Amino acid sequence: MAAPAAPRARRLRCLLLPLLGLVAAGAAGDCGCSASRGGGDGREAAARRYSAAGGGRGQMVAIPGGAFTMGTDEPEIQQDGEWPARRVHVNSFYMDQYEVSNEEFERFVNSTGYVTEAEKFGDSFVFEGMLSEEVKADIHQAVAAAPWWLPVKGANWRHPEGPDSSISNRMDHPVLHVSWNDAVAFCTWAGKRLPTEAEWEYSCRGGLENRLFPWGNKLQPRGEHYANIWQGVFPTNNTAEDGYKGTAPVTAFPPNGYGLYNIVGNAWEWTSDWWAVHHSTDEVHNPKGPSSGTDRVKKGGSYMCHKSHCYRYRCAARSQNTPDSSASNLGFRCAADAS
Ligand SMILES: *[C@@H]1O[C@H](CO)[C@@H](O)[C@H](O)[C@H]1NC(C)=O
Ligand SMILES: *[C@@H]1O[C@H](CO)[C@@H](O)[C@H](O)[C@H]1NC(C)=O
Repeated sequence: MAAPAAPRARRLRCLLLPLLGLVAAGAAGDCGCSASRGGGDGREAAARRYSAAGGGRGQMVAIPGGAFTMGTDEPEIQQDGEWPARRVHVNSFYMDQYEVSNEEFERFVNSTGYVTEAEKFGDSFVFEGMLSEEVKADIHQAVAAAPWWLPVKGANWRHPEGPDSSISNRMDHPVLHVSWNDAVAFCTWAGKRLPTEAEWEYSCRGGLENRLFPWGNKLQPRGEHYANIWQGVFPTNNTAEDGYKGTAPVTAFPPNGYGLYNIVGNAWEWTSDWWAVHHSTDEVHNPKGPSSGTDRVKKGGSYMCHKSHCYRYRCAARSQNTPDSSASNLGFRCAADAS
């Protein structure tokens, strides 16, 4: 295992969270909270090396600036800081129509030689339900509050379920096992950047005000599936009624009002903001989150989200990981300035 330049003890964040009665599972152990590695360092600067080698604004949509209600006054998961509702203005910007796919990430790696943090650390967190018995037999630790997360040696974006897996038949699925630092490196290379949390949530809402989901308040309008989440009993039985047990192609499911696909479900998406749970109700313009922190905000939930454990496939929902964390349900999309 290639040691990172500055070895860091991996921190099992889930063990540190207060377990709050009935919401303990939601707080500590779901698709939202995977185990985090230790804190960040100067990798962001290193990522700048890949600047501007990429190309174009391919497959982005122009999001018209405006004001919206960020967060909610009816939080489903209080401790995530998805409240209070507050008035937020954002300037016009561009947003990737799709989550960054394995194919796009491979193009980036081919042209830069970039090595992801999971590759450097030599392992990444994988959802147990996706692992072969062979791989599982080799693992002797798990995240106490979320035993379905296992650290798997050799798991990375090319091998999402460990060395015996590959992405060859899912090049159009979202890239996984990319840390926040990796995501920043990719977006920078592409001449883009990560969206702020405000931009992400504004995008998610697709022009609707105060709705739970990108398409409205009803999870399955007319019985149709609008996102790749978990059906069945979590974590043992994903019936895949939406068509997918794991990730889906980034082009699957209907787009929202802004033409964005899989903005909730499928894979969690990194944003540029540091994580904090207390928000002022002051009306603000183009907020960029706290000026420092230990974790970065991720939004949207993933294929592992079920209402019982992780009701986080809502636009207001949010979660966090350290910037060097990676997992089998965490990806990203990029944004860009309008001018
Ligand atoms: C990356 O490089 C490999 C080896 O040359 C090639 O087979 C593959 O098609 C390339 N991937 C992309 C997305 O261009
Ligand atoms: C999973 O859930 C479905 C639907 O409730 C049920 O038919 C099936 O038997 C379950 N499978 C297992 C392995 O429990």
